[in-house]
Amino acid sequence: MEMDVIVFFAGLCLVSAEFFSDLSHVEKFLQNKESSLRKKYRPFYHLTAPEGWISSPTGFTVFKRKYHLFYQYYPYNGAWGHMSWGHAVSSDLIDWVHYPSAIIPKDYYDKHGCLAGTALVRNNFLTLFYTGTVLTENETVQTQNLALSGDGTLFQKYLYNPLVRDSPTGIGEIRNPKVWRFRNVWYMVLGTTSRQRHGQLVLYTSNDMFNWKLNGTLTESYGDMGYIWESPDIFELNGYHVLILSVQGIEADGYRFRNLYQNGYVIGFFNYRKAKFDDLEVSTATFHELDYGHDFYGAKSLRAPDGRRLLVAWLGMWESNFVESTAGWASMLTLIREVKINKHGRLLLMPIREIVELRTEMLENAWYNPGEVFDAESRSFELIANSSSVDADVGIVFEWKDGRYAVGYSSNHEYIMIDRGGVDGVRRAYWSPKDAVNLRIFVDASCIEVFCGEGEVVFSSRVYPKAMNIRISGEAQLHIVQYRLRRSAGFDIKLAKRLKEDDLHKYNLFTHPSENQ
Ligand SMILES: *[C@@H]1O[C@H](CO)[C@@H](O)[C@H](O)[C@H]1NC(C)=O
Ligand SMILES: *[C@@H]1O[C@H](CO)[C@@H](O)[C@H](O)[C@H]1NC(C)=O
Ligand SMILES: *[C@@H]1O[C@H](CO)[C@@H](O)[C@H](O)[C@H]1NC(C)=O
Repeated sequence: MEMDVIVFFAGLCLVSAEFFSDLSHVEKFLQNKESSLRKKYRPFYHLTAPEGWISSPTGFTVFKRKYHLFYQYYPYNGAWGHMSWGHAVSSDLIDWVHYPSAIIPKDYYDKHGCLAGTALVRNNFLTLFYTGTVLTENETVQTQNLALSGDGTLFQKYLYNPLVRDSPTGIGEIRNPKVWRFRNVWYMVLGTTSRQRHGQLVLYTSNDMFNWKLNGTLTESYGDMGYIWESPDIFELNGYHVLILSVQGIEADGYRFRNLYQNGYVIGFFNYRKAKFDDLEVSTATFHELDYGHDFYGAKSLRAPDGRRLLVAWLGMWESNFVESTAGWASMLTLIREVKINKHGRLLLMPIREIVELRTEMLENAWYNPGEVFDAESRSFELIANSSSVDADVGIVFEWKDGRYAVGYSSNHEYIMIDRGGVDGVRRAYWSPKDAVNLRIFVDASCIEVFCGEGEVVFSSRVYPKAMNIRISGEAQLHIVQYRLRRSAGFDIKLAKRLKEDDLHKYNLFTHPSENQ
C-alpha cells in the first residue's frame, strides 16, 4: 500500500462520520415534478442544477466507468451565494443523474465557498481538490483543500485540510487548483494575481499529493492579460500542451474579448524537467477565445477513456441578467465538446458524437431558398444547415414575437456573426470555410449554441425566446435538417431512496450552513 493511502485511512478513522449533502431539493423535486419541469426557460438537454444557481464546472472525471461532473452550486435561490460542489453522474455523457452535493461550505477554511478545482481518481478514491474561501473583515483568504470518496456519492473532507494555506505573493486570492501527476510527481497550478495586479499562475509540487511545496511562478501576464487568472486547465493534445485560462479584465479589442470576462487558451510545451513552459508568451496576441458567444466561462476538460479530450464550461457570464432567477434557478452548462487541434495550432470544438442519441424525430429535411420561413415547432432541437458553396452570404434568423437571434456568414469578408439583439448583441469571428458553409445549431429553451464548420468557431449564448419561426436570409440556398431533441437530465428515484434508507438524516444531511447566514 502506498504511503498516501495509509495517510488517507488514518484520516478516515479520526474523522467523525461527517457525511453531508443536501437531499431536500431531491425530495421537493420528486413531490413537485411536473411544475418544476415546466419552469419557463428550463433547458431540456443542457445540464442545470436541480434547483438554484449553477456556474462553472468544478471538476470532471471518470470513476468506476461513470462520468462525474461537478459544478458550482447554490441550491437556495437563483442567485450566486456560498458555493457548494453540485454533482451529476452519467454513464454515456448524455443522460445525467443528479447526485447530492459533493462538498458544502461549512468548515472554518471554506465557510464562504468551496470553489472550483480538480476531480481525479487515485487509488480507487474519487478525489476532489478545491479552494476554500473565507471573507474576513478586509480580505478574501483562499486555501487549497481535499475531499475524498470511496463510492463516488458521499465525500469526506480530508482531516488535515487545508493542504496549501499560503500565497506566494501574500495576496489572498489564489484559487482553482489544477492537479495532475506525471512520473511520480504531483503538480498543482493555481490562478492568482501579482502584486502589480497582473494575472499569474503559480506551481506547487508534491510527492504524495498531501504535502505541497511552492515551486514558483509558472507564467504571468506582461500587462495586457487582465488582473486575475482563474480556473487554469492544462492538457496534452497531439504533442502540444494547451493552457486554458479564465481571465478577468482583458480590454475589448474590436470583436475580440467583448465579454465582461474571457475564457481562452494558449498553446505551449510544458517542460517537466524544468517544471516550466518553454518560451510561453501569454498575451492578447497568443490568447484565443474558446467560444465567441456571450455566455461562456470556466471551462474544464477531461480525457475520456477512449482518449478523446472533452470540454465543458459554464453557459453563463458574470453580471448578466438571468431572467429565470425569479423562478428559483439560474443558468446551465454548455454541451460537452470534443477538442481537437488543427495544423495552425488552433482548437476545434464540436459537440461530442454521442449527442445524436438525443434525436427523437426529424422535423425538417429540405432545401430552402432565401426568404422562406418555417415554424420551429419545438423548443428543443438541433438544426443542421449546409450551403453548397462559400461564394454566397448565408443567413438564418430565429424570430419570435418581440425578439430575434440571427446567424450570418459574410462571404466577402469571411466572417461569421451572431446577433441576439439588445445592447452589445453582436459577436463576430473570422472564419474561412473550405467548400461550403456547414452550421450545427443547438437550441434549448433559453440558449443557442452555433458550431461552425469543424468547430473553428463556436458561439454560445443565452436567449429568451417565445415560439419561434426560422427564416432563411442571406443569398445562399440551404439544406436544412432539423431534429427534435429529448430531455437528458433527471433524478434517480432509486438513488434518492437508497440515500434515504441509509438514514442520512443522522449525518445532518438536510441542512446547509449557508441557509442561515
Ligand atoms: C482591516 O484594515 C484596517 C485598516 O487598514 C486595519 O486597521 C485592521 O486591522 C484590518 N483588520 C483585519 C481583520 O485585518
Ligand atoms: C521546480 O521544479 C523543477 C523541476 O523539478 C526543479 O528543477 C526546480 O528546482 C524547482 N524549483 C523550486 C524553487 O523548487
Ligand atoms: C452537412 O455537411 C456536413 C459536412 O460536410 C455533412 O456531414 C452533413 O451530412 C451535411 N448535412 C446535411 C443535412 O446536408
